[in-house]
Amino acid sequence: MPRKPTPQTTPLRHIAFIMDGNGRWARRRGMPREMGHRAGAKTFRRVVDHCDKIGIQAVTVYAFSTENWSRPPEEINSIMELLSDFLTEAFDRPEDQVEIRFLGDKSVFELPLRGRLEQLEQRTTGRKSRLNIALNYGSRAEIVHSVNTAIKEGKRQLAEDDISTALYTADCPDPDMIVRTGGDMRLSNFLLWQGAYAELYFTDTLWPDFTPRHVDKAVKEYYRRHRRYGGL
Ligand code: FPP
Repeated sequence: MPRKPTPQTTPLRHIAFIMDGNGRWARRRGMPREMGHRAGAKTFRRVVDHCDKIGIQAVTVYAFSTENWSRPPEEINSIMELLSDFLTEAFDRPEDQVEIRFLGDKSVFELPLRGRLEQLEQRTTGRKSRLNIALNYGSRAEIVHSVNTAIKEGKRQLAEDDISTALYTADCPDPDMIVRTGGDMRLSNFLLWQGAYAELYFTDTLWPDFTPRHVDKAVKEYYRRHRRYGGL
């Protein structure tokens, strides 16, 4: 459970996950990489439920980057199938009170998939907490898109807000913490603008092995840190 914040600590409202390590998890078990993604999808549901239970208002996950299209077609298909399963089952239980948004360029997805993504967003609008799923997402492209939007609106000199308000996350607070599983210590083009002051948390645990207990450990670590935002 999250500890009461110290006076210097901003409450943890938004946590983002780079869900890395599915492929290695499967390989270590002699299974195809696709099985790792399947296990990863289960972890995703458990982690989102847990974050909701402990009162975190917003969760963002990196499900598919613009770079992931370079993976073998079978692997891409398996992730898209998991997405399709998710859209079928998504958060229809009475206890599900989460508004879902897809971050990224949805125009690459053909109908009917694109329609299903948009329907889910509409159907869950106005719910109390937020789940952002980054899909065909790249942070640099998002920033460029945002700047171009401002230029199209006729702005000639931009302030930070002009960029923030045209990002996919415009109506969501910035992430307080970004967690990356799987042992690598980089952001991989994820929430570069929004994560400017995020606490970064890296763990060797592979995503399918990541449990609610690991979430609690990361949250505890967050409340041990002192966020200074450049001040003292
Ligand atoms: C990174 O692990 C993981 C992905 C690129 C896919 C993440 C997808 C899911 C968890 C399931 C689908 C989620 C939804 C929302 C439907 P990796 O394959 O790069 O692992 P590796 O570093 O061990 O190779």
